[in-house]
Amino acid sequence: MALNALKDSPKDPKPWWESAIVYQIYPRSFKDTNGDGVGDLRGILEGLDYLKSLHVGCLWLSPVFPSPMRDFGYDVKDYEGIDPLFGTLEDFDTLLTATHQLGMKLILDLVPNHTSDQHPWFIESRSDRDHDKRDWYVWRDPGMAGAPPNNWLSFFGGPAWTLDSASGQYYLHQFDSTQPELNYRHPAVLEAMLDNIRFWLERGVDGFRIDVIWLLIKDAWLRDEPLNPNWDGSNPHEQLLHIYTADQPEVHQIIRSFRALFDQYGERLIVGEIDLPPENLMAYYGLAGDECQLPFNFSLIHTPFEAQILRQTVRDYEARLPAGAWPNWVLGNHDRPRLATRIGAPKARLAQLLLLTLRGTPTCYYGDELGMLNGSIPKERIKDPQAINQPEVGEWIGRDPQRTPLPWTKGPNRGFAPPGADPWLPVGDETATPSIETQSRDLSSFLHFFRSLSALRQSEAALMKGDYREIAIDHDDIMAYERSFADQRFLIILHFGGTPVTVPLQDPEIPLKLRLSTHPRSIAASLDSPLTLAGYEGVILQYPISPMKGRRP
Ligand code: GLC
Ligand code: CA
Repeated sequence: MALNALKDSPKDPKPWWESAIVYQIYPRSFKDTNGDGVGDLRGILEGLDYLKSLHVGCLWLSPVFPSPMRDFGYDVKDYEGIDPLFGTLEDFDTLLTATHQLGMKLILDLVPNHTSDQHPWFIESRSDRDHDKRDWYVWRDPGMAGAPPNNWLSFFGGPAWTLDSASGQYYLHQFDSTQPELNYRHPAVLEAMLDNIRFWLERGVDGFRIDVIWLLIKDAWLRDEPLNPNWDGSNPHEQLLHIYTADQPEVHQIIRSFRALFDQYGERLIVGEIDLPPENLMAYYGLAGDECQLPFNFSLIHTPFEAQILRQTVRDYEARLPAGAWPNWVLGNHDRPRLATRIGAPKARLAQLLLLTLRGTPTCYYGDELGMLNGSIPKERIKDPQAINQPEVGEWIGRDPQRTPLPWTKGPNRGFAPPGADPWLPVGDETATPSIETQSRDLSSFLHFFRSLSALRQSEAALMKGDYREIAIDHDDIMAYERSFADQRFLIILHFGGTPVTVPLQDPEIPLKLRLSTHPRSIAASLDSPLTLAGYEGVILQYPISPMKGRRP
């Protein structure tokens, strides 16, 4: 008997992440309970009922480990603790237990590619060229005339190398200079990271999102990267083609080692951060399904929000999925401009409808359930190192606008922090994004729409795990598809144009039931064909269940 069949209930042999909605919390901006202006674990605990009301099944916390916070937690100085800013290990255990009691899962954010320069490993490594941890990081002698060892660039501007004057060698960092990269060609590094992972799996966390997993290992010869002939002159990091710093063949063995450990603990999830096109992404499921269960699929983030392009994007991705692999979709995160800002507020509901009805695990970014917009950050309040290090492009490349505090109420500090506190980023006002309090009372609000959508998704097997089939509707602004499971069938029609459009339904004889619309509509018993959709309207329609279907004659 297969191992899966032994450990799962006969009712649902699929692992939990195939039906859950994942929700990303940026802890600094979720809820501040002690008035220091930064969100904390108790804030998340206080917000659990709200999260439950969104019908999300898995919370992903951006890093909460001890950190100098140069990159706001993506610079870890101790993988086995909680930064005092966020609380204590005890607060974490309380949060984990409470999350589980509400039937939700909790995953953390592992940052194995680099540590903080304050991590004891790096302090030791830097202390002496002969130290036995010297090779835990990537050190090299200077190149010609004292220049960096090669031409690699940092995502945060400038070369990917910083000279340590005491030892006369450079160390590698593809992010901030305070984020030195670990050397996974040294076996002890992998062992040490596995120990850190084990610490949290033992505590009961349900998995990890793994930061920049596709960058974990670099070319053994540190060869120069070729120039990118298609560079558009904007993001300096894109001047080079990253053929030696990313997606190296050896990375898969490391991921398999991570996964083997996760599997010792039952159903524990690896969401890999892999910013690659689908043709390169699929390898991260593993040849034997033994790497990431969900290699993050960023294609919706990179795709213009137009019907035919999106249809093609979904088709390509589905076609490339390896046998047995489960898809996933994401529309926003802490590194990208907010969805509603990126594609325009009028299309934001449509985008959520797409995300929550495609086949695959959706990941929602905190605040997107409110239709939240990018915050505006005055220059003097910019915090993001990616912006600070590159003043010439920082304004558009900066990530603070998508990390602003969640607005809970209309009151002082919008309920994010106690009155009198000074939130780390501006909270924005009610006219940009109405608060949770305001939206909860308004049946026409974005939040109300999101809750209806997530409730419907989680109550219908066809939407949660059914098959996906494209439906041809001959109109440039329309994307349509069917989701089906056993005898249930749903038709989703998304209209990406701004003016009303009338579409024929496939078979006018079959009365379709409207289950949900992005727009105000009475949920009538059945709909007429042709159907008129408002600008940017999306609908979920349900086919009647045929009484004969599935029965033997
Ligand atoms: C990932 C994170 C980003 C961080 C970087 C370095 O891309 O999502 O926020 O700055 O890795 O850890
Ligand atoms: Ca706090």
